[in-house]
Amino acid sequence: MSIRTICCIGAGYVGGPTMAVIADRCPQIQVTVVDLNEARIAAWNDPDLSLLPVYEPGLDAVVGRCRGRNLHFTTSVEPAIAAADMVFLSVNTPTKTRGVGAGQASDLRWIEASARQVAACAQGHTIVVEKSTLPVRTAATVTAILEAAQGEVAGEAQSKTFSVLSNPEFLAEGTAIRDLEQPDRVLIGGEDSAAIEALAGIYSQWVAPEKILRTNLWSSELSKLTANAFLAQRISSINSIAALCEATGADVQEVARAIGADSRIGAKFLQAGPGFGGSCFQKDILNLVYLCGHYGLQEVAAYWQSVVELNGWQQHRIARLVVERLFGTVTGKRIAVLGFAFKADTNDTREAPAIRICHDLLEEGAQLALYDPKVSEAQIQADLGEGSWQRSETVLEAACGADALLVLTEWAEFRQLPWPELAAVMRKPAWLFDARAICDAEAARAAGLNLWTVGKG
Ligand code: NAD
Ligand code: UGA
Repeated sequence: MSIRTICCIGAGYVGGPTMAVIADRCPQIQVTVVDLNEARIAAWNDPDLSLLPVYEPGLDAVVGRCRGRNLHFTTSVEPAIAAADMVFLSVNTPTKTRGVGAGQASDLRWIEASARQVAACAQGHTIVVEKSTLPVRTAATVTAILEAAQGEVAGEAQSKTFSVLSNPEFLAEGTAIRDLEQPDRVLIGGEDSAAIEALAGIYSQWVAPEKILRTNLWSSELSKLTANAFLAQRISSINSIAALCEATGADVQEVARAIGADSRIGAKFLQAGPGFGGSCFQKDILNLVYLCGHYGLQEVAAYWQSVVELNGWQQHRIARLVVERLFGTVTGKRIAVLGFAFKADTNDTREAPAIRICHDLLEEGAQLALYDPKVSEAQIQADLGEGSWQRSETVLEAACGADALLVLTEWAEFRQLPWPELAAVMRKPAWLFDARAICDAEAARAAGLNLWTVGKG
């Protein structure tokens, strides 16, 4: 079965970039990305490619090549589903905030709504692909919804049939285009081999065959949660050791290099910092914890829960130690926070460590001057609410009159800051708190700053 038309429901951080790369690599396929959010779709259609709703290095070029050719963004959901041979579900799956499983389980209302919409609008045979990250066994729910509509005939059209596949996405923000163009692997879970091969045929336009893994539906759904849990666990592990390094005189970067040289451990994802942020790690681990509880595996649930707890502890720990070093009080003191995004090269602030750390400092009475090259004032406002903070246009402006600089995102520009110039405008004694261990420590010290670096004893 060859696919000529694709519809993707959800034009977010995953749907937009993923479909742009598919359209780029498969010019013979018409790809339509739909979303209910009109502002988001308008931004995807903005003639100025610097105004796309998602900031990702290289995304503007890919969208520029395909948009209007075989890549379309629209709020007209129904016709796009009706025309599609394959529909990707790429909607949000946040943690539930109320009801059973609140604070742990994934809220599946958007997945269910989009599955119902596919059930209502699809024509002929449609392959439905779960792209969102979902609790294991969600494909059974999606299938049940679709099966209820199976066999219906709309007007002249052929009767409806469906196949459901799981095809989780492993891209990381900031490197999404590279991750999509050169993935470590593509995972396809399913039972219908014709559908699996149709989806594999799309990826095989640019991905080597040995990197396209096929599993059953449940292994595929669970592998996505497991991958994120393992990645997040490495960060909590290294952050726990960072605290011990600070107490003992060891240096966590040296420890990371030493353990990472063991090929069984590997060198990646061992950077200590202010804890993991982003929309997924915490949400996916909490979901895993909920699932384990649901299946009566309390010890397994507690094991993964501790990864999330250590992460929260690290964030509060950093806020606490800033207060301690500034003579036990930050009331009325200006602190320049450098970086608000949850990692570099993205404008995304979901679950950013900066949010929790800034809240703690505001609670202590600090006045925050926030600088981030990609995060807007409106976004900071949405994350922090009203309070004694302001957004600065430059690092220098943020530093003016500040007692401390606190680096929370590893933006490249923070690696080479003009230390003498910054020190000159700060109040003495002035501090640099480098929660990413990326600043030039020697230069900062030479300029007269006191220094704390994560994981350095
Ligand atoms: P997002 O919130 O940026 O985008 C989801 C979009 O879906 C929103 O724009 C929303 O308006 C739209 N939507 C919801 N219901 C809809 C409906 N019924 N019809 C039309 N549009 C609808 O989310 P995201 O970051 O793209 O994540 C999507 C999924 O992918 C999540 O399950 C997430 O866990 C997973 N994921 C995310 C990343 C990442 O880096 N952000 C990476 C891998 C996997
Ligand atoms: C992560 C995974 O890396 C992706 O594979 C996955 O697809 C995605 O989640 C998802 O499911 O949403 P992402 O959250 O975009 O991607 O970014 P990461 O690079 O994983 O960083 C997550 C957080 O961990 C960031 O706050 C980052 O600063 C932090 N981190 C990462 C560290 O503190 N240390 C490290 O060594 C690596």
